[in-house]
Amino acid sequence: MRSVSGGGHSEEVRLALQSVLDRHGLLRGEAVLAAPTRVLTRSNVYFLGDSTAPGVCRWVVKESRGGAAQADLVESLTAFEQFSALQRLHDHFADLDEPFGVPRPIAVLPGLDAFAMSYIPGVQVSRLLRPRTVLRPERALAACSSSGALLSRLHQADRQEVVAVDTRRRADHILGLDAAGTLPGSLRHILEQLPRRTLRAPAVRLHGDFAPVNVIIGEDGGTFTFDIDHKIVDTPEHDIARFLVMLQTDRLFTMAVDAPAVERLRQRLERAFLDGYQAPRSADIVLHLEVVEQLLRRWTTRRQLLTATGTGRLKRGALDRRFATLLADYGLRLADAGGLGREPFAHAG
Ligand SMILES: Nc1ncnc2c1ncn2[C@@H]1O[C@H](COP(=O)(O)OP(=O)(O)OP(=O)(O)O)[C@@H](O)[C@H]1O
Ligand SMILES: [Mg+2]
Repeated sequence: MRSVSGGGHSEEVRLALQSVLDRHGLLRGEAVLAAPTRVLTRSNVYFLGDSTAPGVCRWVVKESRGGAAQADLVESLTAFEQFSALQRLHDHFADLDEPFGVPRPIAVLPGLDAFAMSYIPGVQVSRLLRPRTVLRPERALAACSSSGALLSRLHQADRQEVVAVDTRRRADHILGLDAAGTLPGSLRHILEQLPRRTLRAPAVRLHGDFAPVNVIIGEDGGTFTFDIDHKIVDTPEHDIARFLVMLQTDRLFTMAVDAPAVERLRQRLERAFLDGYQAPRSADIVLHLEVVEQLLRRWTTRRQLLTATGTGRLKRGALDRRFATLLADYGLRLADAGGLGREPFAHAG
């Protein structure tokens, strides 16, 4: 039998999973590692299968690594919390009986800060963003559309009351985040001019990290998401903006900043995702503010990373151009949505 490299607590995890699966009568042979363990920032992820079908992934075990937090995300949850969220959502999607879902929760593994779930064979939406997608966008468009639909269903799992959004406060918050003064001048000006409006917006329990990398188009054609917090309650735009920001700052778009065909693709993918989302949303201005805030945070994180790894000027320049272009674009939409008109700002800064 081919042996797969371990890492983390592979042997403890293997034995714990084996005893759980045995108890449920789900194993024919022994539990074995089926793919290399991924040691990530916040977690170790193990891929396991049955020794009677070597190399076939059937289960994933996710173990929390306390302490290591990702700067643009909130503190990571314990395995128990993640498992509970998965159970809640798995039940919700089972009731809907649509081609959307989450991995099947198996168990929290005793003695470890880890839980097991089913492995979903398929392709991550982030992997559909390739240079060839520019010429053949159909799969990526369909994936963005079903990602939007999936997210809207997830948001309906636990509907909350409405919340009030104060546009002026949100704008001030973003300006406060930009201590380094990286925002394009035109956008800064728009944020400063944005009138105070208090909007009633829907509130939902958020996925927490709804990025293209955390969505899989399954081999069976369904759309699935994992890496879910399902803890914080906020406007749906928080998750929607995360997907859009991660999509639009993908390598494909940072490499080819000014190509019109790539720019068109970006806009079509965004549209497909938003059209796919079929649940109540806030006024557009809330989404634009959210995207601007998340872009700014991500730009800061990415810059720090590039500086820390000593990446060359050229690459940093491309990254800066990408973020500045996106921020300016969302600035114009913000001006429209805020009733400011484009003319005075379009060419400023
Ligand atoms: N149930 C699953 N089915 C198929 N692949 C999975 C599954 N769970 C995780 N993976 C794979 O493992 C990778 C890492 O898992 P996950 O996204 O949960 O961890 P992470 O990004 O490190 O999360 P966090 O940021 O919370 O630490 C995923 O990108 C995906 O490729
Ligand atoms: Mg992930």
